[in-house]
Amino acid sequence: MTWLYIVGGVVVVLGFTAFFGAPYVPSRRRDVRRLFMNDYPLRSDDVVLDLGSGDGTVLRVIRQAGARAIGYELHPLLYWVSKVLTPGVQIRMVNIWTAPFPKDVTVVYIFSVGRDGNRLVRKMQREVARLGRTVTLICYGNPLPGRAPDSAAGPYLLYRFRPLHLNKP
Ligand SMILES: C[S@@+](CC[C@H](N)C(=O)[O-])C[C@H]1O[C@@H](n2cnc3c(N)ncnc32)[C@H](O)[C@@H]1O
Repeated sequence: MTWLYIVGGVVVVLGFTAFFGAPYVPSRRRDVRRLFMNDYPLRSDDVVLDLGSGDGTVLRVIRQAGARAIGYELHPLLYWVSKVLTPGVQIRMVNIWTAPFPKDVTVVYIFSVGRDGNRLVRKMQREVARLGRTVTLICYGNPLPGRAPDSAAGPYLLYRFRPLHLNKP
């Protein structure tokens, strides 16, 4: 019977991966720790949203760093695994492309932008316009297309997204 559950789990994971095209690979914990503990230290009033939060690896480091973590994860199995492994952290089973950002978000983290780079830029622009303030986007893996990062830290690229009215002189 156990093997049935295992096979079923694998089928569900692969099925979602094939459908959404975003494989599940967690960030390397030591990279996340170096980022949020040293290179980009979080403040206690930071609210960090992990877009596609997987098993919650990044959320747990954010919490350890003393900031508030929020995860958006569409895959039901990963959603429930992360809920169990990361009690007390807000995780929503939503689609990152349609769910609005939390109103108090200050930093957005994403692993593997890949082919969705332009879509992510549009999403960020829409959300900072709606919120009316600047939000930092941290990309792990791939750069955003057609946009120079504001800074880099190891494998991470950091972009500051400002609402258009804040760009005017
Ligand atoms: C590369 S993993 C990164 C996991 C985690 N952020 C980390 O760095 O350890 C990407 C995650 O995004 C999730 N995902 C892919 N498309 C999504 C979507 N449209 N909405 C919500 N989650 C999505 C996948 O299920 C997967 O768990």
